[in-house]
Amino acid sequence: MKLAILSRAPQAYSTQRLRAAAQQRGHQVKVLNTLRFAIDLSGSDPDLQYRGRLLSDYDAVLPRIGNSVTYFGTAVVRQFEQMDVYTPNTANGITNARDKLRATQILSRHNIGMPATAFVHSRADVRLAIERVGGAPVVIKLLEGTQGIGVILAPEVKIAEAIIETLHSTKQNVLIQSFISESRGRDIRALVVGDRVVAAMRRMASGDEFRSNLHRGGTVEAVELTPEYEQAAVRSAQIMGLRVAGVDMLEGRDGPLVMEVNSSPGLEGIERATGLDVAGAIIDFINNQVAFPEIDVRQRLSVSTGYGVAELLVHANADLVGKRVRDSGLGDRDITVLTLHRGSTVIPNPRGAVELEAGDRLLCFGKLEEMRSMIPERRRRRTKVRKLPKEPIPEA
Ligand SMILES: Nc1ncnc2c1ncn2[C@@H]1O[C@H](COP(=O)(O)OP(=O)(O)O)[C@@H](O)[C@H]1O
Ligand SMILES: [Mg+2]
Repeated sequence: MKLAILSRAPQAYSTQRLRAAAQQRGHQVKVLNTLRFAIDLSGSDPDLQYRGRLLSDYDAVLPRIGNSVTYFGTAVVRQFEQMDVYTPNTANGITNARDKLRATQILSRHNIGMPATAFVHSRADVRLAIERVGGAPVVIKLLEGTQGIGVILAPEVKIAEAIIETLHSTKQNVLIQSFISESRGRDIRALVVGDRVVAAMRRMASGDEFRSNLHRGGTVEAVELTPEYEQAAVRSAQIMGLRVAGVDMLEGRDGPLVMEVNSSPGLEGIERATGLDVAGAIIDFINNQVAFPEIDVRQRLSVSTGYGVAELLVHANADLVGKRVRDSGLGDRDITVLTLHRGSTVIPNPRGAVELEAGDRLLCFGKLEEMRSMIPERRRRRTKVRKLPKEPIPEA
């Protein structure tokens, strides 16, 4: 294949290793400076210029987008996507992962353990938010920090309030997060490629530091992850839309707590700690996937008016229960079942033999009107019992 590595640091360890791994495998590879692209939307097809000249054809692109160039960098990646060039990490995936709040929001509905987190704007809401995540000591994080910079441990509520107020006054958004003391300055970095963890290490903070980042003087050791940790890492990366990711997890009392998902994980620490060829695994994965560039399925399918994608629920009392997909009548109603989700298992293309059970969720493409009656009810939130206010509410 012909591969472009997008990077502003051609001499960096990770870039060098990826380039070497691609060359060793007989691929054509170029490291291109992300900031020297020009997005060309003047013609009839999406195009890219590089250093003032039309970019030649590539089969795949591996983005290594630094924090300081997220907007431009993801625009370039999105352009490659429009040109049907395969990328393991989509522009959306990179954007989702970059912002710690956005990442936490996206992961929050998927049953993935995470430290309790809150986000507020008004000074009046800070104290309650700190209490909700478990009180002091509490962790305060800038939304887009890296390498441990912008992660603060506040020992007392008053100090936390002062820090948050200060940061707010300089227009910085911050997360308020429960401090996971049992992980004692340690965390796990899992390198996810595709649907597996190819390498993992434990990082340990130095001295009385609670942040275990290598840039903060942390040390590392290779670890063998339990299936629970592996699953948390792989699912987090997949939900974010990343096929190459470094997933950071704290070792919580009840299992893994995902803190963040990095879309351009460094390779030096993890290759040295584990002795594994992570760069090679990334290149092999890309070479395997090259024929399958990212397609926005929903967007492509909804172009047919009146048709769309929906997730349907097999209700307990519905006449679908016990029937096979083929005899369910869905086909006659112009509904195609793409996948069947049952508990934590997924059956792709469940055409014939599978019998439907109550509670099955079917990802379908079809006429929206036909599917309307089978759309599951919106999830209801727990309603908290509220105490009535002591004072009568004044009439409006
Ligand atoms: N809620 C927390 N409880 C305990 N330690 C934490 C918590 N959040 C972060 N840390 C420590 O701080 C480090 C940096 O936090 P992280 O959210 O990964 O930010 P960064 O993007 O700067 O690496 C983590 O690797 C971990 O050691
Ligand atoms: Mg981190």
